[in-house]
Amino acid sequence: MMLAIPGLLDAAALAQFGAALAAAEWQDGNATSGAQSALAKRNRQLAEGSPVARELGSLLLDALGRSPLFVAAALPHKVYPPLFNRYADGDGFGTHVDNAIRIQRGSDFRVRSDLSATLFLSDPASYDGGELVVEERFGEQRVKLAAGDLILYPASSLHHVLPVTRGTRLAAFFWVQSMVRDDGDRRTLFELDSAIQDLATATGQDDPVVLRLSGIYHNLLRRWADV
Ligand code: NI
Repeated sequence: MMLAIPGLLDAAALAQFGAALAAAEWQDGNATSGAQSALAKRNRQLAEGSPVARELGSLLLDALGRSPLFVAAALPHKVYPPLFNRYADGDGFGTHVDNAIRIQRGSDFRVRSDLSATLFLSDPASYDGGELVVEERFGEQRVKLAAGDLILYPASSLHHVLPVTRGTRLAAFFWVQSMVRDDGDRRTLFELDSAIQDLATATGQDDPVVLRLSGIYHNLLRRWADV
């Protein structure tokens, strides 16, 4: 399932991220790549674990925790500490798949990548190219969102980033291990949850049918979740 989460960061947070990233030191993006994706990748990244990446990453994790849409859609169990990248001057990232398991360097923290996420940090009018292209079952999805918006997509998908031919594209990216591993099960839970919310808005939280459906939601989650 692909899902956009608009406005994860507000204007004040975006200004803070922009200032910190403008002053940051960038390194070759291939520092974090597997051998296969290094062949296709050309961009710059903040060093993993650098003070700026840690500070912004922690603000971003806080924002994720405050987003009911992110929590309902991802059912997050673990989130890999966010990384930050910069594409300019023709940089791009050819077609690749993300590694199934991400191990944080210097620790035993590991995340199974069920979902990949990109948080757009630059105004889309300020750069050309830079679309994230995800190969989905029903064809290619091209994604270029407003600054502060997040896209969630299956980490199992083939995807690439088109070359940036004008301006600079800043983004954060990370992986989520969901409590519900299967993409279809997770989507079913998300759709049921959304339908219950709509019904509750129409009839009230204490409507007996809302309560029964909420019980079914939690019983499905209990069957499918690993925590
Ligand atoms: Ni990728």
